Amino acid sequence: MADQGTWGSTVDEARKLRDALDARGEKLVFTNGCFDLLHAGHVRYLRQARALGDALLVALNSDSSVRALKGPSRPVTSQADRAEILRALASVDCVVVFDEPRVTKLIKSIKPHIYAKGGDYTIDSLDSGERAALDKTGARIEILPLVPGRSTTNTLARLLQGEVMPRASVEVPAHEPVTRTLRLGILGSGRGSNFEAIHHAIQQGVLDADIRVVISDLADAPILQKARELGYQALHLEAGTGAKMSAEAQKRLCDILQDHDIQVVVCAGFMRILKEPVLDIFTDRIVNIHPSLLPKFKGRNAWARAIEEGELESGCTVHLVTDEIDGGRILAQEVVPIQLGDTTEQLYERIQEQEHKLLPRVLAEWHALGLPTE
Ligand code: GRF
Repeated sequence: MADQGTWGSTVDEARKLRDALDARGEKLVFTNGCFDLLHAGHVRYLRQARALGDALLVALNSDSSVRALKGPSRPVTSQADRAEILRALASVDCVVVFDEPRVTKLIKSIKPHIYAKGGDYTIDSLDSGERAALDKTGARIEILPLVPGRSTTNTLARLLQGEVMPRASVEVPAHEPVTRTLRLGILGSGRGSNFEAIHHAIQQGVLDADIRVVISDLADAPILQKARELGYQALHLEAGTGAKMSAEAQKRLCDILQDHDIQVVVCAGFMRILKEPVLDIFTDRIVNIHPSLLPKFKGRNAWARAIEEGELESGCTVHLVTDEIDGGRILAQEVVPIQLGDTTEQLYERIQEQEHKLLPRVLAEWHALGLPTE
């Protein structure tokens, strides 16, 4: 059991709270997280979670469990302070600090009525053990929308990039070198405007990355032409027709990426489905940009389908690539409102404007997001 300090509650106290609510026919909402460097995104999320029931319990990752999840430089704020800050919020009724990587045990012993999780997860991508414990206790699962642009990793990236303070005055731990140039491989089949956005971000010094190679499945794709004009290595991958690539093409692609010592693969409008060995060798190191607010509107022409279905907003998503098409973990999203009378072209243009900011930003935050590079 983790040290609860002055502001944390024990599991017994949490269970008593749950039982008292239950006796009154009221509901306990349970959520969990690190809540390091609390920001408006956290506060809004917690307010929404509290509104789902009658009291909110926050299971707070202890310092050691944050370190295990996010690396040795985190958390910035100690568990005692994080618990105290959370308890000061009107929306938080109880904080329980936990050491384990998962909250399965806590769910089993506290038996909350409702489980809230942030929109970087879908019901299907929840941890299977936690999901089974929730199903067993009969808890209702609610996924709450992400608050765009607000994140601790965002704040830290701004600090580390010297945006807030001159770099020299920021104390960076010795094990966290400031220069961490990402070696990128970019895959695309089309215009290459997202590739250009990454190029510009590097030129402007907001993204510390090196585009080692640009690869397209189409010999005449504008992305290859643009890459050559900008002096990058641009390669055509013979991949046949259709969305699927042969096993041989998958292997060749993997070899090219490995030969260029690529750390992160960026799918920027790549219209082919990646399989082994690329997915295996680059697990959690392949990102895709998709023109919708995933998990809504996976697949092609997402923005046109959003208009057809009368959605009020659309947007773009950067997510990790897995074998489920447009289904990997969501890293960041930007909302684009759909205006009355919008044509598909007008909406897509506004979505692309946001894509061009979002994709470089996620890459710039790669280390701060705690994502692997090797
Ligand atoms: C983007 O809209 C992206 O969301 C989708 O493909 C498009 C690529 O555009 N996956 P571009 O080639 O980067 O201009």
